[in-house]
Amino acid sequence: MLITICAVLCLTWFIWFSRGLSRRKVTALDLPRYRNRYPLGLDGLYRFYRSLYDDTFYETMQSLYSEYGHTFNLRALGIDFYFTDDPENIKAMLATQYDDFGKGPAFNAAFYPFLGDGIFNADKIVWQSARHLLRPLFARERISHLDFFERHFQLLLNHIPDGETVDLLGLFMRLALDIITEYLTGDSVGSLKNDENEFAVVFDAVQLTTARRASLGRLYFLASTVGYRKNLDKLEDFLKPYIEESIKLGRGSNNDNSYHFTAALCEYTTDHKVIRDQIMSLLLAGRDTTATALSWTFYELARSQPIWTLLRNEVSKLRGQKPTFDNLKSMKYLQAVISETLRLYPSVPHNVRASMKETTLPRGGGPDGNEPVICPKGTTINFTIHTMHTREDLWGPDASIFRPERWLNSSTSTSWIYLPFK
Ligand code: HEM
Repeated sequence: MLITICAVLCLTWFIWFSRGLSRRKVTALDLPRYRNRYPLGLDGLYRFYRSLYDDTFYETMQSLYSEYGHTFNLRALGIDFYFTDDPENIKAMLATQYDDFGKGPAFNAAFYPFLGDGIFNADKIVWQSARHLLRPLFARERISHLDFFERHFQLLLNHIPDGETVDLLGLFMRLALDIITEYLTGDSVGSLKNDENEFAVVFDAVQLTTARRASLGRLYFLASTVGYRKNLDKLEDFLKPYIEESIKLGRGSNNDNSYHFTAALCEYTTDHKVIRDQIMSLLLAGRDTTATALSWTFYELARSQPIWTLLRNEVSKLRGQKPTFDNLKSMKYLQAVISETLRLYPSVPHNVRASMKETTLPRGGGPDGNEPVICPKGTTINFTIHTMHTREDLWGPDASIFRPERWLNSSTSTSWIYLPFK
């Protein structure tokens, strides 16, 4: 009996060991591994996190990709963290092997107190139902009323005295917050009217703690504080009356003149939590992305008189009239400037997915990095849109130069090498 048990155990161990060996062969030998100098890989992890906090993230990632290739493995504390800026691998995660990847449990847990099951924190069925719910609310006729942008923009202009230097990023953050809160609830928090706006302060604090939680992966809970819960409560207190009012008024209360997102959402659901979670996701989606894109656009315009002149000439054709949605669509140079800004300064420069089962990524292995690599279940895969957008082998020798003209009459396909909205 004892011999049988031993034999079974030996056999099980042998199968387990040889599977592990073959997997390790592919992941460890074929995928270039970050060379740690200290035990447990803490120096690699430290280098990555430090770059997030001292604003050297882009340079750090660029130097890592040039040293190790466009897909590599940083192993720390015995955990594999893959990094890639290879369009084929990103395409696999977001499209061709979509079912194999998701945001993953660590990401979900880090974001849950803030976003709940909102679209940004959802995978698979939860994501599909969020997407189904939100899609009609982004139909063109719902988002093409541009008048209220003008109202907020005039308030922003009051903060820009002639001939003085101003912090445009701070002002654009306030502009975007005022617009998104009005769009979502019908009422703006009015941060441009009030320098000490409490909602803006609370929203910043919640975003910062959530980002810290997310950057700690499975150790996300270490970044929580009592203040985090209190600030979340304050955000909820702000949204609650709008949600309750919209639910009370019920279906059909929303018309084109008084369109706001919360009321429109009540056409499809009256579940308080569902509405709350989606609204939080849109608050997150709508502010920093827009504000940073506007800031970088003006940064580049301030540095190039010829580009400024060309853009001004196109805008002058409106003869001082407010643009319509169709006007905006026909302004090709404006679109080129925005596309180029989002290429060099993508609002979401780095993102993350996790493998939901054992699977592969199409590239990164073998001597030339063109072979598939194994991706064990639960592997975190970081993908860097920012460095991919400035790769000379993909964009040409002027990849790092701001040149909106590259978008005019371009016959080159940019699908999967240009992903500012993925
Ligand atoms: C310059 C402006 C913007 C940029 C660059 C941008 C970029 C992105 C990116 C990169 C994602 C993918 C995130 C991920 O899946 O991990 C995303 C998703 C999303 N964004 Fe934006 N965004 C912008 C503005 C907005 C605004 C103003 C809204 C709405 C008010 C919005 C709503 C959404 C929604 C609902 C999703 C989730 C889509 C889905 O999962 O199907 N975004 N955006």
